[in-house]
Amino acid sequence: MTARPIIANTREELSEALASRGEIGFVPTMGALHDGHASLLTRARSEVGESGAVVASIFVNPLQFGVGEDLDRYPRTLEADLMICADHGVDVVFVPDVTQVYPDGDPEVTINPGPKAEILEGAARPGHFAGVLTVVAKLFGLLGPDVAVFGEKDYQQLVLIRQLVTDLCLPVRIVGAATLREPDGLAMSSRNRYLDDAARSRAVALSQALTAGARSGQQGAAAVLSAAEAVLRQVKGVEVDYLRLTSTNLGPAPSSGTARLLVAAQLGQTRLIDNVAVELGSSDERSS
Ligand code: PAF
Repeated sequence: MTARPIIANTREELSEALASRGEIGFVPTMGALHDGHASLLTRARSEVGESGAVVASIFVNPLQFGVGEDLDRYPRTLEADLMICADHGVDVVFVPDVTQVYPDGDPEVTINPGPKAEILEGAARPGHFAGVLTVVAKLFGLLGPDVAVFGEKDYQQLVLIRQLVTDLCLPVRIVGAATLREPDGLAMSSRNRYLDDAARSRAVALSQALTAGARSGQQGAAAVLSAAEAVLRQVKGVEVDYLRLTSTNLGPAPSSGTARLLVAAQLGQTRLIDNVAVELGSSDERSS
């Protein structure tokens, strides 16, 4: 039998639900939960143990959506989400409405996410990471978690949240959890449910391209990018926005060692992102 979590809709209900808890492990979400989120909840439990409390939040944060993005059509599946939380031993689910998070409307003070928010997703979605970091900082303020778990699927977001915590000395430990994939390799995402059959079958090209790139790591950075590009070129209807090899911290890729290969593409109305770790050999150095 799974116990239903406490559902807190207001700040007061949240403080009451969190009073005299042990360590708090937090998983912030925008709902439309899938197995990828479930794995974050499981990870949060393993971080805080049975004596701790796992808290999830479900809030579709308007501040991180630009004009013309999918705020209105973002999937909202609260009942199913609560079942997933119950099945994964979540103790408290914070489900605020916008007036609880932004009682005075848009905040006057927001987080400036810095230069790493200008590239990749940030270049395509101006203001997105300011909105993400602002709501994450607010949620940290409201909950006071000891540890917070974020998926590597949103790799740039994870890097920026680590930077937020470091630069603002926030007393929370950030854990990055591996991306969960469908059997064919597609990274799990709430946005996958927008894909029609044709787009869904094309979407696998993203993970295939990343896998091909990662397999070429020993031949160096140029080989990684050309292997990934070759896969993407073969598939019609996948409009690549970027395919980029960076350092693990989103700087220039190292000539050898661990790097990150990131891709974003538009499939019809739906923008998908994915990324993998790449171990780079030093063939580029030898050949130059
Ligand atoms: O990754 C998400 O779902 C969101 O960006 C987050 C971290 C919950 C902030 O709204």
